[in-house]
Amino acid sequence: MNNYFSTRNTIREYSDAKVPKDLIDKIIRDAAQAPTTGNMQLYSVIITESRENKDLLAPLHFNQPACKNASLLLTFCADFNRFEKWCKFNNAIPGYRNFQSFISAILDVTIFAQQFNTIAELNGLGCCYLGTTTYNAPEIASLLKLPELVIPVITIAIGYPKNSVQEPTERLSIEAFVHNEFYKDYSKETIDRLYKEKENNPTNRKFVKENNKQTLAQVFTDIRYTKENNEIFSKLYFDFINKNGFNFPK
Ligand SMILES: Cc1cc2nc3c(=O)[nH]c(=O)nc-3n(C[C@H](O)[C@H](O)[C@H](O)COP(=O)(O)O)c2cc1C
Repeated sequence: MNNYFSTRNTIREYSDAKVPKDLIDKIIRDAAQAPTTGNMQLYSVIITESRENKDLLAPLHFNQPACKNASLLLTFCADFNRFEKWCKFNNAIPGYRNFQSFISAILDVTIFAQQFNTIAELNGLGCCYLGTTTYNAPEIASLLKLPELVIPVITIAIGYPKNSVQEPTERLSIEAFVHNEFYKDYSKETIDRLYKEKENNPTNRKFVKENNKQTLAQVFTDIRYTKENNEIFSKLYFDFINKNGFNFPK
């Protein structure tokens, strides 16, 4: 536990060992002690264990290896369906199909997912977030039979780690993101200094070379998170969320 937080990392390769259902239930129970908006617990999690359904989900996560080899896939959803039903069945008129409520549900599910992730890792499990959940949300929602007001937000692939030790991934120094009293904006010199270590990291240097780029920043803008893809997936997700019951102001 002592150095867990400074040494943890994402695990993308898993052994064949199955994660016991009662362990997952216990981790989920503990994770649900996470704080939520007004204690409304605006989330649901769908556990996918069967080979058949994992194989159906894998292409929706672009066949990422972590997704294909995981013992379990947990799809975390923002969920106002359950709470709205509770209100309606109890003579209360819900007013939650709006942006503010959607953000509350996003916060609840994100905190819950990360609480789950931390507890799972502390129990010796390896986890990998799959951000591709938002890219193919309509297909994932249809496969998992999600009703209106239930929006898939993030997936965690989980299993026992295949390899015992892995180097922690580099981080910016805290000076890069801690501001005392007021936000202090960044000059070019400060940005250069703060990102220097990341840019000189051997793995990141390799990415730059392999992708024939001049800078690490270009690996992000031109390859990993392009404007074109971000705009395509923004529209897909936005339209899906609107179609599924949340009305955002135009
Ligand atoms: C919202 C979110 C989405 C992510 N999506 C993916 C993903 O689709 N595939 C993947 O391999 N890792 C994914 N990750 C893991 C990050 O790549 C990883 O956390 C980051 O590179 C730092 O590495 P570390 O977790 O080993 O410290 C995601 C993490 C977060 C928080």
